[in-house]
Amino acid sequence: MLILGIETSCDETAAAVVENGRRVLSSAIASQIADHRPYGGVVPEIAGRKHLENLVPIVQSALEEAGVTPADLGAVAVTSSPGLMGALLVGTSFGKALALGWGVPLVEVNHLHAHALAINLGDRRPRLPYLALVVSGGHTTLFRVSSALNLVILGQTRDDAAGECIDKVAKFLGLSYPGGPEIDRLATGANPRAVRFTRGLAHAATLDFSFSGLKTAVVSHVLGTSRLDGPLNHQQTPAIPDGELRDLAASFLEAVVDTLVGKTLRAAREHGLSTVVVSGGVAANTRLRAKMTAEGKAAGLRVLFPGRELCTDNAAMIAGAAWHLARKKLFAGLDLRPSAKMKTGAC
Ligand code: KG4
Ligand code: ZN
Repeated sequence: MLILGIETSCDETAAAVVENGRRVLSSAIASQIADHRPYGGVVPEIAGRKHLENLVPIVQSALEEAGVTPADLGAVAVTSSPGLMGALLVGTSFGKALALGWGVPLVEVNHLHAHALAINLGDRRPRLPYLALVVSGGHTTLFRVSSALNLVILGQTRDDAAGECIDKVAKFLGLSYPGGPEIDRLATGANPRAVRFTRGLAHAATLDFSFSGLKTAVVSHVLGTSRLDGPLNHQQTPAIPDGELRDLAASFLEAVVDTLVGKTLRAAREHGLSTVVVSGGVAANTRLRAKMTAEGKAAGLRVLFPGRELCTDNAAMIAGAAWHLARKKLFAGLDLRPSAKMKTGAC
C-alpha cells in the first residue's frame, strides 16, 4: 500500500510517499527556517500562512519524485496532534480535501508517535518492545513502544523541551535560529567540563525531565561573569570571547545530554527494555548520539538512531506510522479535528 503523508505541525511543510510503512519513495520538505529566523523562533501565524503557500508544490513534488499518481494511493495521512493549532488546521484541511477529491481514505497520525516509529523506515527494525526517547523543539518524552499502535508515556518534560531550552540559550548567546545545530558546531572539540551546570531532576525518583532551571543557570552564569556595560538585562547579547563561548556551549550541551542519557538509561532499567531508539530534532546532535551510544552499550543496551533526515520533522514518518493504522482500517472521518495538545488515546 502506498500512503501520501503530510506534516505541518510546526515550521516544516513536508509531504512523502511511503510503501508498506517501510520504503520511502519520496520525502519533500519546504523549510521555513529563513522566514522565522528574524524573530529568533517560530511565529505561529507565519507558519500557518507558509504551509498554505507550500502545500500544493510540496505534495506535487512528493508524488512526482515517487512516480505515483493519486489513483495509486491507498490513503492520505495527516498529522493531527500535537502542534501549532493554525499549522495543524492547514495540513488537516488540505489532507481532508485531497482524500475527498481523490476518493481515498484519510488517516490521522500523532506527531510524537511518528517520531518514535521513524526507526522502522528502512532496513533496521528494533525488536518490540523498545524504549523511545522523542526529543525535539516541542517535546521531550519517553515512550514504551509495545507495538506500532501501543505507545505508553513513561516520562516527559515538566517545563521546557530540550530543543526549546537549547534554542533559547542559543538565542541568549546571540547565535542564529535554530540554535541546535549552532550549539552542536560550537561544542564539538570544546571543553564540556569548563562550567558545571545543573542536571534537572537528575536524582529525583521520576522519569520526567526539567530544563527550565538549566536555561536560567546559563543566563545567571553569563550575566554573573559578564563584561556588559550598564544594567544587566536578559535581552542583551553578551560579548563572550570565542574560546569561552565554545566551552560554555559544550558545558551547557553536556548538561542537556547527561540529563537525557541519565533518564533514558534509568527508564530502560526500570522497565526492563533492552533496545533504545532516540528520535526527534535533537537526536541529530553529535554529542547526544555519541554519549547515548557509549553509555547505552556499557549498560548492555542496543541504541538506535534514525538517519538525521528522519530525526528532524518530515512526512515520511507520518506516512510510515499511518500504514499500521491503514492496514487495520483505522481511518479518520472528514470531521477530524486537530488538537494542539497530544490527543489522549490517539494513535
Ligand atoms: O523534531 P524537530 O525538527 O521539530 C519539532 O518537532 O520540534 O526538532 C527541532 C529541534 C530544534 O530545537 C533544533 O534546535 C533541534 O531540534 N536540533 C538540534 C540539532 N538539529 C536540530 N539540537 C541539537 N543539535 C542538533 N544538531
Ligand atoms: Zn517533531
